[in-house]
Amino acid sequence: MREQLEGLREKALQELEGVGDLQGAEEWRVAYLGRRGALTKILRSVGKLPPEERPQAGERANRVKRELTQAWEAKVEALKAKAIPPEERIDVTLPGRKPLLGTIHPVTRTLWEIYDIFAPMGFQVVEGPEVEWDRYNFELLNIPKDHPARDMFATLYVAPPYGRSQEMMLRTHTSPVQIRTMERFCPEPIRVLIPGRCYRYESVDATHEWMFIQVEGLAVGREVTMADLKGVLTAFARQMFGAERKVRFRCDYFPFVEPGAEMAIDCIVCQGEGCRVCGYTGWLEILGAGMVHPEVLRNGGYDPQSYTGFAFGMGVERIAMLKHSIDDIRLFYGNDLRFLKQFS
Ligand code: PHE
Repeated sequence: MREQLEGLREKALQELEGVGDLQGAEEWRVAYLGRRGALTKILRSVGKLPPEERPQAGERANRVKRELTQAWEAKVEALKAKAIPPEERIDVTLPGRKPLLGTIHPVTRTLWEIYDIFAPMGFQVVEGPEVEWDRYNFELLNIPKDHPARDMFATLYVAPPYGRSQEMMLRTHTSPVQIRTMERFCPEPIRVLIPGRCYRYESVDATHEWMFIQVEGLAVGREVTMADLKGVLTAFARQMFGAERKVRFRCDYFPFVEPGAEMAIDCIVCQGEGCRVCGYTGWLEILGAGMVHPEVLRNGGYDPQSYTGFAFGMGVERIAMLKHSIDDIRLFYGNDLRFLKQFS
């Protein structure tokens, strides 16, 4: 019986080692430790031995049973730790999922193109706050309170910080940064581009948004003339919209420039023939401009006797719309990937 038990123990442990899954472990348990298992049979047969042999044989058989039970429990534990539930298993043969990559927004892309045109002419980029004081947005730009020119800008006012009584607003244009830039650089000459968000209290339609991006240009120096303004802006229009572009300057009114102008290019769709895009005029207005008003130069710290300057401002969405034949400004901020992905 002793050899029988020893042989069984060895065989069982060896087999258990080869077991690779939980089902195999259960089969092993039934074969050795189950009610009709090999070890159970031996244990039962202890009772048939002569009484003096029983205690030793019983003890030996029980010891083997304990050993095998422990070995089985350890095995089951190890197999469970190894078993991965199906939903966590990785099928390495599946094709990978492509991560969704963001792209540069068409307005940003257009702004970058504008920078690329003005940078070689010496213009650097500066920025200013989107929430602005009345003083900068209007007053220092020659638009005092109750001036009818305030009607040009439907303004979104905000509550000023605690303890401040001045009026605050979401800036209606990037022109207030003209003043901030002059204050910062005076008496140095200036050549800057000023991009940024602007806000107007307007009903939204295909050509108006309540939030839009402008880019402002400002040049201040001792001999800056209207000819410089025309030359710089003509160069811009031709690089942006084609070397053959015609440009047209006409008088316009902005309180912070004198004289003031608007610039148009011949229609890029019909080449000036007249079509729906240009409203059958043959011309597309693309920006406002002018010579910086002496009062505004003075407000920025420059002596208008010795300094002159020009300024211009344009809506970047409008430039992008013309360039890419986009007929609705709302598309830029609608977050429709089908639209945005066309600019990747
Ligand atoms: N700030 C003007 C606007 O928003 C544009 C402009 C800028 C005009 C600079 C002249 C000079 O309409």
